[in-house]
Amino acid sequence: METRLLLQDDRLSHAMDGINQYAKELDDDELGQGVHRHFVGDLWDEVGDLQYRFLRECGLRPDMNLLDVGCGCLRGGLHFIRYLEPGRYHGVDINASLLRAGMLELRHAALDERGATLLQRADFDFQAFEKKFEVVIAVSVFTHLFFNHIARCLHGIKQVLADSGVFYATFFNAPTRLHLEPLTHDPGGITTSYDSDPFHCHPEELATLAYWAGLRADVIGEWSHPRAQQMIAFRHA
Ligand SMILES: C[S@@+](CC[C@H](N)C(=O)[O-])C[C@H]1O[C@@H](n2cnc3c(N)ncnc32)[C@H](O)[C@@H]1O
Repeated sequence: METRLLLQDDRLSHAMDGINQYAKELDDDELGQGVHRHFVGDLWDEVGDLQYRFLRECGLRPDMNLLDVGCGCLRGGLHFIRYLEPGRYHGVDINASLLRAGMLELRHAALDERGATLLQRADFDFQAFEKKFEVVIAVSVFTHLFFNHIARCLHGIKQVLADSGVFYATFFNAPTRLHLEPLTHDPGGITTSYDSDPFHCHPEELATLAYWAGLRADVIGEWSHPRAQQMIAFRHA
C-alpha cells in the first residue's frame, strides 16, 4: 500500500509568514543534507521515540486511526507508521518541503509501502481524510501558534475526533493566565513569550479555547520532554 502525498501549493506555507519559521520551504539540496531534521527542532530519535512511547502508554493500538497534526518530516510519524496497520497513519502539515522530506525518510526506512497519507493544509480542516480518529497528536505545534490558530485547530479536531477519541497536544506552560513576561524553561533553556514564537500559555487558556470548540481539556503536564514542553489532552465535552 503506497504512501499518498497530497500537496496543494508551496505558497501555502506563507500563511505562517511573520508568525513562525515554517513559512520557509527547504530546497532539494537541503533535504538531501537532512536539514529538515534540524528545522523541526533536532532531537530526532529522542523526541520521535518519546511521542511513540507516550501514545503506546495511552493505549494506541495498531488498528486505530491516528492523525498527526503538524507532522513535519515524520519525526514521530516514522515510529507510528512502523507500528500501525497499513493505512492507519494520517499526517497534516502546512509546509510542503517537510512533507517531501517525510517521504524521503519513509523511503530510507523502507516504510513507504505502509499506506500513510500525508496532506498539506494550512487551515486545520481535516475532513479531506473522510475518517474519524481515535487518537490525534500535535507535538511542538501549539508552541508555534497564536491562540486564534489553536482555536481553529481545536474546531477542526472536533469535526473528526471519534466519540471516544483523544487529542494530545504539547505546550509551554505559563504559571498564570495572561503571563506577559518571557519565561525560560528548564530543561532545554528555551525562552518563550505570550505573543511571539515560541509561545507559552496557561492550561486554562487552552481549556477556554477548547470549550469554545466543544471540547474539554485535561492537563497531563510533564511527559519527559527534553525541552520542558507539557502535555494536554482534549476530548468531546
Ligand atoms: C516543531 S515542528 C514539529 C513537527 C512534528 N510534530 C515533530 O514532532 O517533529 C512544527 C510543525 O508544525 C507545522 N505547522 C506550523 N503551522 C502549521 C499550520 N498552520 N498547519 C499545519 N502545520 C503547521 C510546521 O510546518 C512544522 O512541521
